[in-house]
Parts: sequence; structure tokens; C-alpha cells
Amino acid sequence: MTERPSVGTVPADLFDAASAARDNAYAPYSKFHVGAALRTADGAVFAGANMENAAYPQGQCAEANALGAMVTAGGGKRVVEAVVIGGRADILEDLCTPCGGCRQRLREFAADTLVIHICGPEGLRRTVTLGTLLPLSFGPENLENG
Ligand code: THU
Repeated sequence: MTERPSVGTVPADLFDAASAARDNAYAPYSKFHVGAALRTADGAVFAGANMENAAYPQGQCAEANALGAMVTAGGGKRVVEAVVIGGRADILEDLCTPCGGCRQRLREFAADTLVIHICGPEGLRRTVTLGTLLPLSFGPENLENG
């Protein structure tokens, strides 16, 4: 039997969903495979992998594709927990944190308190909140009374 990776305190269902997505990453240019999984307030899980393009700027991050899957399945959901898996397997200090654009994309559907588990292929490396990654952020609420 294949040994299951140690997942630490990252929820196994989210880790497994992100890991399965990462297995399908289309990253022939960077060869940097990323998987992301999101849990919404109602308990549903959505996953995405990065998808690159020969016209490089057209590539899309795993987090963006996971959010796209969420919106496609019903839209407007609140994200309460996320897992991102990426980085070099042999350097445990290597953290594949969401890029700046994806921090803002996540902010659209989540509060500062969103818990993001940053993982390597072997399991959890660090848990952070969106507020740590994107302090003093601008979000949908800013437009409500504008
Ligand atoms: N990438 C992601 O999908 N998510 C991240 O959090 C960081 C970077 C992708 C974009 C590109 O396909 C590859 O990783 C290298 O930057």
C-alpha cells in the first residue's frame, strides 16, 4: 500500500483535493506544479490547478482556477479555509504562498480571517491568514457606500 503523506494539522479532505488537482497541473513552461482547494461556508470543497500558456501572461494560478470552479458551481460563496500545495519537495522552508493577484482574488470571497494552509507535496508547512498576506486590504465592502 502506498504511504499517505503526513498532512499535519491541515484537513485531509482539503489537502487531498489540492493534491489531486496539483497532479493535473498544466505547467510545461515553469514545471512548477500547484494545486489549491477551497472550503466554502456551507462545507463544499472546490479545487484548481495552475494552467500555463505558450503566451506566458495568459497562464492562470491554481487559486484562480479553484475560485473559478467555485463560482461556476453556484457563485458568490464565502471561502473559509484554503490549502495551497506547491514548492520544491526537497526544501521544506520553501513556501508556495498565493501570489499578489490571487491574494486579492481570495479577498473578494473571504475575510481577513481566512485560514490558508501553505503546503508542500509532503504536507503542511505553515498556516497563515489572508489578513497576514494582504494587510489593510481593499474589498467589496469598500464599494458598498461609495
Ligand atoms: N502559481 C500558482 O498557481 N499559485 C501560486 O500560489 C504561485 C504560483 C503558478 C503560476 C505559474 O504557473 C507557476 O506557479 C510558476 O509561477
